[in-house]
Amino acid sequence: MSVQSRYKSFHYIQDLSKFIGQEVELRGWVYDRTKKGKLQFIQLRDGTGIVQCVLFKGAVTEEIFERASEISQETSVKIKGTVRQEERSPSGVELDVVDITIIGHSQDYPITPKEHGDEFLMENRHLWLRSTRQHAIMRVRARIVKAIRDFFDSNGFILQDSPIFTPAAGEGTSTLFSTKYFELGEVYLAQTGQLYAEATAMAHGKVYTFGPTFRAEKSKTRRHLTEFWMVEPEMAFFDLEDDMDLAEDLVEYIVQSVLEDCRPELVLLERDIEKLEKVKRPFHRMSYTEAVKWLNENDVKLIKKNADGTESHIDFPWGEDFGAPQEEALMRQFDKPCIVHRYPAEVKAFYMKRDPENPLCALAMDMLAPDDAGEIIGGSQREDDMEALEHRINEEGLPMEAFDWYLDIRKYGSVPHAGFGMGLERVVKWITGAKHIREAIPFPRTPYRVVP
Ligand code: 4AD
Ligand code: MG
Repeated sequence: MSVQSRYKSFHYIQDLSKFIGQEVELRGWVYDRTKKGKLQFIQLRDGTGIVQCVLFKGAVTEEIFERASEISQETSVKIKGTVRQEERSPSGVELDVVDITIIGHSQDYPITPKEHGDEFLMENRHLWLRSTRQHAIMRVRARIVKAIRDFFDSNGFILQDSPIFTPAAGEGTSTLFSTKYFELGEVYLAQTGQLYAEATAMAHGKVYTFGPTFRAEKSKTRRHLTEFWMVEPEMAFFDLEDDMDLAEDLVEYIVQSVLEDCRPELVLLERDIEKLEKVKRPFHRMSYTEAVKWLNENDVKLIKKNADGTESHIDFPWGEDFGAPQEEALMRQFDKPCIVHRYPAEVKAFYMKRDPENPLCALAMDMLAPDDAGEIIGGSQREDDMEALEHRINEEGLPMEAFDWYLDIRKYGSVPHAGFGMGLERVVKWITGAKHIREAIPFPRTPYRVVP
């Protein structure tokens, strides 16, 4: 017996096609209502879908017809009616209403079918989530989360949650949120679960962490949140090549799962489905050095602000990190993701292993997605040599004592290992085609807004 049939004394819109010709009771909110002479049309939504409910003046009492005509947007109601097959409707059915009861009134609902500005919608995020586009994006997000969990759980990975209060920076000191922690002084909100995943990988072999991470990044871009969800697999005995293969497998699996289960949502969002269908292994790969060469051969200039306020357009210098303009330019030639690997060690985190073939480079990789999605994954093979790691911690000016436990991983049976982090909201934004990352999470946190 399904949980649903055990608890419900009413029907859900998504199941209506199984009840054609039968009387059902729906409960939901009025999305829209229009009137045409003796007919009234109510668009009812209940979270599982939207169905058109038709009231015919002759078929219901005068009182019910009147009651319906006073119903405003987002009023919650109970509607009884008979399910009728209707080829022209997107859900394939309509409801011929016999009775309607109001559960909760709704006066002056602020979000109307007219265009609203972004700020207004963000201020009303708690209500905006009821709109069809936001509803579709959140459904896809939930499906992506399920795909991530299914992928790792069925491939021998053990879920190992990592802490949010942490004693030290994991990803650079410039984006730390700090808070006072009793008598122990300052602690930081986790920027990554990786360092802890490295420890648990030595206990379980293959692990993943999946939770909220925090970056005090005051950049106002369409890709940055201050609180975002990251999934981070970490694997003992994996090298960079294995790491990149795993990242491809994961992303292919996510996209194909969404295509299988969320077509109606993708159609509603007007996402180019054919493009997503092309997201199959193998993805493109190139080294950072090759990417720089491509940028310069294709005349993609780096724009530098000079001290006097003017701009210089220069060739992209080897050693500089890519920003959004470089990533977007590179990706315009591709329909599926591209992994860029072996970045200059200088621009990457302290824990990355140097490339033995070229010590100027780290065994790092970023997966860039097409359609201006930018970086969705960042990962690397980790420095497994005690001395080299101590040297890097010093070089970055990080407090050695905070990393004592982390160095123990190199002290007791150190092994080659690798992992990566995938930003959930970046992936949701890419797959749904949302124009801003704040639409990819129910209640986004950005530098300029923490309400609602
Ligand atoms: O590239 P990042 O900084 O890598 C790490 O944190 C590693 N410790 C991961 C690992 O190897 N286990 O972040 C990983 C991913 C990025 O590729 C991006 O998708 C996402 O996290 N991300 C953000 N998403 C939204 N808002 C931000 N401010 C983000 N910063 C990173
Ligand atoms: Mg990164």
